[in-house]
Amino acid sequence: MIATRLHPDKQTAAQAIAREIADLIEIRSKSGKSTVLGLATGSTPLELYAELIRLHREAGVSFRSVITFNLDEYEGLGPTHPQSYRFFMEENLFRHLDIPAANIHIPDGLANDPAKNCADYEAAIRDAGGIDLQILGIGRTGHIGFNEPPSAADSRTRRVHLDEVTRRDNSVFFGDLDQVPHGALTMGVATILEARRIELIAFGEAKAEIVRRAMKEAPSPSCPATWLQQHPGCTFHLDTAAAKAL
Ligand code: GLP
Repeated sequence: MIATRLHPDKQTAAQAIAREIADLIEIRSKSGKSTVLGLATGSTPLELYAELIRLHREAGVSFRSVITFNLDEYEGLGPTHPQSYRFFMEENLFRHLDIPAANIHIPDGLANDPAKNCADYEAAIRDAGGIDLQILGIGRTGHIGFNEPPSAADSRTRRVHLDEVTRRDNSVFFGDLDQVPHGALTMGVATILEARRIELIAFGEAKAEIVRRAMKEAPSPSCPATWLQQHPGCTFHLDTAAAKAL
C-alpha cells in the first residue's frame, strides 16, 4: 500500500522530507552507523536538496556519515558534461555539503563495460548495507529512475533505452532533442524496492495522471511505478495539482 502525504507547496514537502532525512542521520550516527541514501535527479528534488543544504549550513546537520547512491546516469555523458547527473548532483547538492567524495556513487555513463559497472553498483549497495531511504521522482511514462516501460519487478541495475516521451520531456534541459542520449544506466526496480523506505515526490498537474496510474493500476511492467504498491514503506508526497486525479 502506498501512503500519500499532501503538501500545500513544494517548499513544505521539501522541509518535511529533509527533516526526516536529518533525523535519520542523527539517530543512526549516534550509534556509529552510516546512513545510506538513494538520490534522484530531475527538477522535482531541487527544493529538497536546497533544504538539505540549508540544514547543513544553518542547523549544523553533518553529512560525514552519509553514503549516497544515485538512481541513474545518461549513457555517454561524463562528470563535466553540464547535463550529466553527476554534474547535476555536484552542483545542486554534494559540493555544498561535508559528504566525503568516496561516499558518493553514481553509475558511470562513460563505462567501457556498462554491464560490469552495473554489477559493481549492485555490489556496492549491498556492501554499504542496503539503502535506508530512497528519494524518487516519477516520469510521465511511469518510470522510476530510468526504468521505462516495460520494466519487470525483478530488474536490476542495467543499461536501458530511453522512451521518446522521456527524451522529449528531458530535452528542455538540453535545449535540443538531438542532444538527449538514447541510453542510460539505471538502478533496477528490484534494487529500488529493496530500500527500507521510499519517498516519491511529484508536483504539478502534468504528473496527476501518472500518479493516479501508479497508485490505482494493478502492478505491471507497463507502468513500472506501480511496483511501488508492493513496498511496505512507500509514501507519495504530492501537491494538490499532482493529487488531482486520485
Ligand atoms: C528523469 C529521471 C527520473 C526523474 C524523472 C522526472 O528522467 N531519470 O529519476 O524522477 O525523470 O523528472 P522531473 O523531476 O524533472 O519531472
